[in-house]
Amino acid sequence: MNDDSFTVTPWDVTGPVDYAKLIKKFGTEPITPELLERIEKHTGPLHHMLRRGIFYTHRDMNWLLDEYEKGNKFYLYTGRGPSGSIHLGHVVTWEFVKWLQEAFDTTLLFQITDDEKFLFNHKFKTTKETYDLAIENILDIIAMGFDHNKTKIMIDTDNAKTLYNAALPIAKKITFSTVKSSFGFTNSNNLGEIFYTSIQAVPAIIESVWQKKNVPCLIPHAIDQDPHFRVSRDVLPKLGYYKPASIQNSFFPGLTGEDGKMSSSKADTAIYLTDTPKQVKKKINKYAFSGGQATLEEHRKLGGNPDIDISYQWLRQFFEPNDDKLKKIEDDYRSGALLSGELKAYLIEKVNAYLKTHQERKEKARDQLDKFLISD
Ligand code: TRP
Repeated sequence: MNDDSFTVTPWDVTGPVDYAKLIKKFGTEPITPELLERIEKHTGPLHHMLRRGIFYTHRDMNWLLDEYEKGNKFYLYTGRGPSGSIHLGHVVTWEFVKWLQEAFDTTLLFQITDDEKFLFNHKFKTTKETYDLAIENILDIIAMGFDHNKTKIMIDTDNAKTLYNAALPIAKKITFSTVKSSFGFTNSNNLGEIFYTSIQAVPAIIESVWQKKNVPCLIPHAIDQDPHFRVSRDVLPKLGYYKPASIQNSFFPGLTGEDGKMSSSKADTAIYLTDTPKQVKKKINKYAFSGGQATLEEHRKLGGNPDIDISYQWLRQFFEPNDDKLKKIEDDYRSGALLSGELKAYLIEKVNAYLKTHQERKEKARDQLDKFLISD
């Protein structure tokens, strides 16, 4: 989607994103207090990303819950395009997926789109590069603690037979002109790019194919992927399947807060799951955009602005799930009692604690690969 000030497509997010505008442009539904209440009836206390509106929009959640209440359980589908190392922006969505999976006791299918990244990204010369990244990324996904009894991972090039067979009828119903208008493609896009969306649609119906009956599907994803699923939702009912429901989050900002989204193309403003405590400390202290005042005296007198402060935003979105603690941080920062450096120190501690656990688990992840991967 193009706008004067920002762009959001599955391959490009730039500028300050206006999330209210995106809802209108994409045509998704806001998550209302009524919907939250309905979810809470099934899950118990809501995840902080729902309470705080990080996951803020959806398609067909009420339908999905209607089915769930009738005993027609859904499965979860999400994915990862392996274009580089995993950073905090990615795990935000997946931590929520894990919560959903546990709260609704569902299975989860994780699609790793090495084909997509090979086709769309000029930096990759061979499919081995994207395949190797797929495996590396999967180790991070496993290290997040998903239950292998309920979680399956498919790598597109390894599961080509399943995917291609199921993608064919989907591709047959999507015209070139739909792809052009949905993704902004032109005559210079390559053939693989044009076909690709049909591959991303498959996991939304694959349980129905396998079980030979329609199974509802919920896709949690960052809002930039919506154009794919808008196309899927048009096509799948024509083939006799349900439309997949979706629940979508806003982006996790990079340290400088300049762009809407943490991005690997700006390594200094992203924190990777492999970063050391020292690197984390250095990056946050040096780059995290501060809503504090220029001098100590001014800060004590005027207070800081948490709304634009990246350290505060990271705590709100991810690292401080406790509402009371977050409120105290916000109040103290606004009043000037809490300094920028102190806020950063608190965040650094939280980030490093998260990464420590993750890195320990990742060392054991390779032995678990076979339990997660689906073979064709
Ligand atoms: N296209 C996504 C990416 O570039 C990967 C992906 C595939 C995905 N299927 C998905 C993401 C479903 C979210 C939900 O990262």
